[in-house]
Amino acid sequence: MPAKQTAGSKFSPEEGRFPAHIGVIMDGNGRWAVRRGRVRTQGHLEGLKTAKKIVKAASDMGISYLTLYVFSTENWKRTAEEVGFIMGLVKQYLSAELDFFRQNRIRIRHAGDARGLPPEIAGEIRAVCDDTRDFAGLQVILALNYGGRDEIIRGIKRLLEAPPSGGEFTEASFRQYLDNPDVPDPDLIIRTAGEMRISNFLLWEGAYTEYWVSEKMWPDFTEDDLAAAIERFRGRERRYGGVQG
Ligand code: IPE
Ligand code: IPE
Ligand code: MG
Repeated sequence: MPAKQTAGSKFSPEEGRFPAHIGVIMDGNGRWAVRRGRVRTQGHLEGLKTAKKIVKAASDMGISYLTLYVFSTENWKRTAEEVGFIMGLVKQYLSAELDFFRQNRIRIRHAGDARGLPPEIAGEIRAVCDDTRDFAGLQVILALNYGGRDEIIRGIKRLLEAPPSGGEFTEASFRQYLDNPDVPDPDLIIRTAGEMRISNFLLWEGAYTEYWVSEKMWPDFTEDDLAAAIERFRGRERRYGGVQG
Protein backbone atom coordinates (compact mmCIF):
# COMPACT_ATOMS: atom_id res chain seq x y z
CA MET A 1 0.00 0.00 0.00
CA PRO A 2 1.71 3.26 -1.03
CA ALA A 3 1.82 6.05 1.56
CA LYS A 4 -0.99 8.53 1.03
CA GLN A 5 0.20 11.62 -0.79
CA THR A 6 -0.86 14.86 0.83
CA ALA A 7 -0.39 18.40 -0.37
CA GLY A 8 2.84 19.71 1.06
CA SER A 9 4.61 16.37 1.36
CA LYS A 10 7.44 15.45 -0.99
CA PHE A 11 7.38 12.32 -3.08
CA SER A 12 10.22 9.94 -2.56
CA PRO A 13 11.10 7.24 -5.07
CA GLU A 14 10.70 4.56 -2.38
CA GLU A 15 7.01 5.32 -2.26
CA GLY A 16 6.68 3.89 -5.74
CA ARG A 17 5.51 5.28 -9.02
CA PHE A 18 4.72 8.96 -9.13
CA PRO A 19 4.05 11.27 -12.07
CA ALA A 20 7.09 13.16 -13.30
CA HIS A 21 5.00 15.31 -15.62
CA ILE A 22 1.48 16.54 -14.94
CA GLY A 23 -0.57 18.54 -17.45
CA VAL A 24 -3.56 20.59 -16.36
CA ILE A 25 -6.48 21.77 -18.48
CA MET A 26 -7.56 24.60 -16.21
CA ASP A 27 -11.19 24.84 -17.28
CA GLY A 28 -14.31 26.39 -15.74
CA ASN A 29 -13.24 29.93 -14.87
CA GLY A 30 -16.14 31.45 -16.83
CA ARG A 31 -18.78 29.15 -15.34
CA TRP A 32 -17.39 29.75 -11.84
CA ALA A 33 -17.96 33.48 -12.28
CA VAL A 34 -21.32 33.32 -14.06
CA ARG A 35 -22.74 31.04 -11.35
CA ARG A 36 -21.87 33.75 -8.85
CA GLY A 37 -23.45 36.51 -10.92
CA ARG A 38 -20.03 37.90 -11.80
CA VAL A 39 -18.40 38.65 -15.14
CA ARG A 40 -16.29 35.91 -16.74
CA THR A 41 -13.06 37.85 -16.28
CA GLN A 42 -13.49 37.61 -12.49
CA GLY A 43 -13.29 33.86 -12.96
CA HIS A 44 -9.94 34.23 -14.71
CA LEU A 45 -8.67 36.37 -11.84
CA GLU A 46 -9.66 33.65 -9.34
CA GLY A 47 -8.22 31.02 -11.66
CA LEU A 48 -4.85 32.74 -11.53
CA LYS A 49 -4.85 32.45 -7.72
CA THR A 50 -5.49 28.71 -8.07
CA ALA A 51 -2.69 28.38 -10.63
CA LYS A 52 -0.24 30.01 -8.18
CA LYS A 53 -1.32 27.61 -5.40
CA ILE A 54 -0.97 24.56 -7.65
CA VAL A 55 2.48 25.62 -8.90
CA LYS A 56 3.64 25.94 -5.28
CA ALA A 57 2.09 22.59 -4.32
CA ALA A 58 3.66 20.80 -7.31
CA SER A 59 7.02 22.33 -6.46
CA ASP A 60 6.72 21.29 -2.80
CA MET A 61 5.68 17.76 -3.79
CA GLY A 62 8.77 17.32 -5.95
CA ILE A 63 6.96 17.07 -9.31
CA SER A 64 9.45 17.61 -12.14
CA TYR A 65 7.23 19.10 -14.89
CA LEU A 66 3.86 20.87 -14.79
CA THR A 67 2.26 21.97 -18.05
CA LEU A 68 -0.54 24.48 -17.58
CA TYR A 69 -3.00 25.01 -20.44
CA VAL A 70 -3.39 28.77 -20.22
CA PHE A 71 -4.73 29.77 -23.65
CA SER A 72 -5.45 27.64 -26.69
CA THR A 73 -5.11 28.45 -30.38
CA GLU A 74 -8.92 28.38 -30.42
CA ASN A 75 -9.40 30.75 -27.47
CA TRP A 76 -8.91 33.76 -29.81
CA LYS A 77 -12.58 33.20 -30.72
CA ARG A 78 -13.54 34.90 -27.45
CA THR A 79 -14.32 38.60 -27.11
CA ALA A 80 -11.44 41.06 -27.40
CA GLU A 81 -12.15 42.10 -23.80
CA GLU A 82 -11.78 38.56 -22.42
CA VAL A 83 -8.70 37.81 -24.52
CA GLY A 84 -7.09 41.11 -23.48
CA PHE A 85 -7.86 40.42 -19.83
CA ILE A 86 -6.27 36.96 -19.94
CA MET A 87 -3.15 38.30 -21.71
CA GLY A 88 -2.88 41.04 -19.09
CA LEU A 89 -3.09 38.46 -16.31
CA VAL A 90 -0.33 36.39 -17.91
CA LYS A 91 1.96 39.40 -18.12
CA GLN A 92 1.21 40.41 -14.54
CA TYR A 93 1.74 36.84 -13.31
CA LEU A 94 5.14 36.51 -14.98
CA SER A 95 6.55 39.76 -13.66
CA ALA A 96 5.01 39.52 -10.17
CA GLU A 97 6.14 35.91 -9.58
CA LEU A 98 9.74 36.20 -10.73
CA ASP A 99 11.06 36.39 -7.15
CA PHE A 100 8.96 33.36 -6.23
CA PHE A 101 10.38 31.42 -9.21
CA ARG A 102 13.90 32.35 -8.15
CA GLN A 103 13.36 31.42 -4.51
CA ASN A 104 11.88 28.04 -5.45
CA ARG A 105 14.33 27.39 -8.33
CA ILE A 106 11.38 27.05 -10.71
CA ARG A 107 12.10 27.10 -14.42
CA ILE A 108 9.47 28.65 -16.70
CA ARG A 109 9.07 27.43 -20.27
CA HIS A 110 6.65 28.07 -23.09
CA ALA A 111 4.73 25.75 -25.38
CA GLY A 112 2.83 27.19 -28.30
CA ASP A 113 3.33 29.69 -31.08
CA ALA A 114 5.09 32.75 -29.63
CA ARG A 115 4.83 34.54 -32.97
CA GLY A 116 1.05 34.67 -32.63
CA LEU A 117 1.19 36.39 -29.24
CA PRO A 118 1.10 40.15 -28.62
CA PRO A 119 4.78 41.26 -28.73
CA GLU A 120 4.86 42.44 -25.11
CA ILE A 121 3.57 39.06 -23.89
CA ALA A 122 6.00 37.14 -26.09
CA GLY A 123 8.80 39.40 -24.81
CA GLU A 124 7.86 38.88 -21.15
CA ILE A 125 7.75 35.11 -21.60
CA ARG A 126 11.12 35.11 -23.33
CA ALA A 127 12.61 37.21 -20.52
CA VAL A 128 11.27 34.97 -17.73
CA CYS A 129 12.27 31.79 -19.60
CA ASP A 130 15.81 33.19 -20.00
CA ASP A 131 15.96 34.35 -16.39
CA THR A 132 14.94 30.95 -14.99
CA ARG A 133 16.72 28.77 -17.59
CA ASP A 134 19.29 27.30 -15.20
CA PHE A 135 16.95 26.44 -12.33
CA ALA A 136 16.80 22.71 -11.59
CA GLY A 137 13.55 22.59 -9.61
CA LEU A 138 10.03 22.25 -10.99
CA GLN A 139 9.69 23.13 -14.67
CA VAL A 140 6.44 24.97 -15.38
CA ILE A 141 5.52 24.87 -19.06
CA LEU A 142 2.98 27.54 -19.94
CA ALA A 143 0.88 26.41 -22.90
CA LEU A 144 -0.08 29.78 -24.31
CA ASN A 145 -1.41 30.20 -27.83
CA TYR A 146 -0.97 26.44 -27.79
CA GLY A 147 -2.78 23.85 -29.90
CA GLY A 148 -1.70 20.23 -30.26
CA ARG A 149 -2.39 20.25 -33.99
CA ASP A 150 -0.65 23.59 -34.39
CA GLU A 151 2.41 22.25 -32.57
CA ILE A 152 2.57 19.28 -34.96
CA ILE A 153 2.14 21.53 -38.03
CA ARG A 154 4.81 23.95 -36.79
CA GLY A 155 7.05 20.93 -36.17
CA ILE A 156 6.54 19.72 -39.74
CA LYS A 157 7.37 23.20 -41.06
CA ARG A 158 10.61 23.22 -39.03
CA LEU A 159 11.39 19.75 -40.33
CA LEU A 160 10.94 20.88 -43.94
CA GLU A 161 13.26 23.82 -43.29
CA ALA A 162 15.92 21.68 -41.58
CA PRO A 163 15.44 17.99 -42.44
CA PRO A 164 17.22 15.42 -40.27
CA SER A 165 20.49 14.19 -41.70
CA GLY A 166 20.30 10.54 -42.70
CA GLY A 167 19.12 7.53 -40.75
CA GLU A 168 15.63 6.20 -40.34
CA PHE A 169 12.99 8.79 -39.53
CA THR A 170 11.21 7.67 -36.37
CA GLU A 171 8.79 8.96 -33.73
CA ALA A 172 11.85 9.90 -31.69
CA SER A 173 13.26 11.93 -34.59
CA PHE A 174 9.97 13.77 -35.08
CA ARG A 175 9.85 14.60 -31.39
CA GLN A 176 12.94 16.79 -31.87
CA TYR A 177 10.80 19.19 -33.92
CA LEU A 178 8.17 19.69 -31.20
CA ASP A 179 8.15 22.68 -28.84
CA ASN A 180 9.99 21.12 -25.87
CA PRO A 181 11.60 17.89 -27.09
CA ASP A 182 13.45 17.18 -23.84
CA VAL A 183 10.30 17.30 -21.70
CA PRO A 184 8.99 13.76 -21.14
CA ASP A 185 5.40 12.92 -22.14
CA PRO A 186 2.86 13.80 -19.47
CA ASP A 187 2.06 10.90 -17.14
CA LEU A 188 -1.14 12.47 -15.89
CA ILE A 189 -3.46 15.12 -17.33
CA ILE A 190 -5.99 16.68 -14.99
CA ARG A 191 -8.99 18.49 -16.44
CA THR A 192 -11.31 20.53 -14.23
CA ALA A 193 -14.95 21.52 -14.82
CA GLY A 194 -16.11 18.07 -15.86
CA GLU A 195 -15.61 18.17 -19.63
CA MET A 196 -14.55 14.81 -21.11
CA ARG A 197 -12.44 16.11 -23.97
CA ILE A 198 -8.87 16.96 -24.90
CA SER A 199 -9.56 20.38 -26.48
CA ASN A 200 -6.36 20.17 -28.57
CA PHE A 201 -4.00 19.75 -25.59
CA LEU A 202 -0.72 17.81 -26.01
CA LEU A 203 -2.01 15.58 -28.81
CA TRP A 204 1.33 14.01 -29.69
CA GLU A 205 2.70 13.88 -26.15
CA GLY A 206 -0.52 12.61 -24.58
CA ALA A 207 -0.78 9.39 -26.59
CA TYR A 208 -0.57 7.25 -23.44
CA THR A 209 -1.27 9.78 -20.72
CA GLU A 210 -3.63 8.91 -17.87
CA TYR A 211 -6.56 11.29 -17.59
CA TRP A 212 -8.34 12.45 -14.45
CA VAL A 213 -11.34 14.76 -14.62
CA SER A 214 -12.58 16.80 -11.69
CA GLU A 215 -16.11 18.21 -11.56
CA LYS A 216 -14.77 21.26 -9.72
CA MET A 217 -14.40 24.55 -11.57
CA TRP A 218 -10.71 25.57 -11.76
CA PRO A 219 -11.00 28.42 -9.19
CA ASP A 220 -12.30 25.84 -6.65
CA PHE A 221 -9.49 23.32 -7.28
CA THR A 222 -7.18 22.84 -4.30
CA GLU A 223 -3.82 21.35 -3.38
CA ASP A 224 -5.68 18.41 -1.85
CA ASP A 225 -7.47 17.81 -5.17
CA LEU A 226 -4.06 17.68 -6.84
CA ALA A 227 -2.87 15.19 -4.23
CA ALA A 228 -6.06 13.11 -4.75
CA ALA A 229 -5.50 13.05 -8.53
CA ILE A 230 -1.92 11.86 -8.01
CA GLU A 231 -3.10 9.21 -5.58
CA ARG A 232 -5.57 7.91 -8.17
CA PHE A 233 -2.85 7.95 -10.83
CA ARG A 234 -0.69 5.77 -8.62
CA GLY A 235 -3.42 3.14 -8.56
CA ARG A 236 -3.70 2.96 -12.36
CA GLU A 237 -2.17 0.20 -14.41
CA ARG A 238 -0.44 1.57 -17.53
CA ARG A 239 -0.24 -1.09 -20.19
CA TYR A 240 0.87 0.89 -23.27
CA GLY A 241 -0.94 -1.58 -25.46
CA GLY A 242 0.60 -4.60 -23.75
CA VAL A 243 -1.08 -7.06 -21.42
CA GLN A 244 -1.58 -7.00 -17.68
CA GLY A 245 1.76 -7.43 -15.92
C1 IPE B 1 -10.62 28.17 -18.75
O1 IPE B 1 -11.86 28.59 -18.33
C2 IPE B 1 -9.70 29.33 -19.10
C3 IPE B 1 -9.44 29.49 -20.54
C4 IPE B 1 -9.89 28.69 -21.48
C5 IPE B 1 -8.64 30.61 -20.95
P1 IPE B 1 -12.99 28.98 -19.34
O2 IPE B 1 -12.92 30.44 -19.60
O3 IPE B 1 -12.99 28.11 -20.53
O4 IPE B 1 -14.28 28.69 -18.46
P2 IPE B 1 -15.65 28.05 -18.94
O5 IPE B 1 -15.32 26.74 -19.58
O6 IPE B 1 -16.26 29.01 -19.90
O7 IPE B 1 -16.44 27.89 -17.69
C1 IPE C 1 -9.41 24.42 -22.91
O1 IPE C 1 -10.58 24.96 -22.42
C2 IPE C 1 -8.35 25.48 -23.03
C3 IPE C 1 -7.80 25.98 -21.78
C4 IPE C 1 -8.11 25.56 -20.59
C5 IPE C 1 -6.80 27.02 -21.93
P1 IPE C 1 -11.72 25.51 -23.39
O2 IPE C 1 -12.78 26.05 -22.51
O3 IPE C 1 -11.15 26.42 -24.41
O4 IPE C 1 -12.19 24.17 -24.12
P2 IPE C 1 -13.58 23.81 -24.79
O5 IPE C 1 -13.99 24.94 -25.67
O6 IPE C 1 -14.57 23.59 -23.69
O7 IPE C 1 -13.31 22.54 -25.52
MG1 MG D 1 -13.88 26.34 -20.94
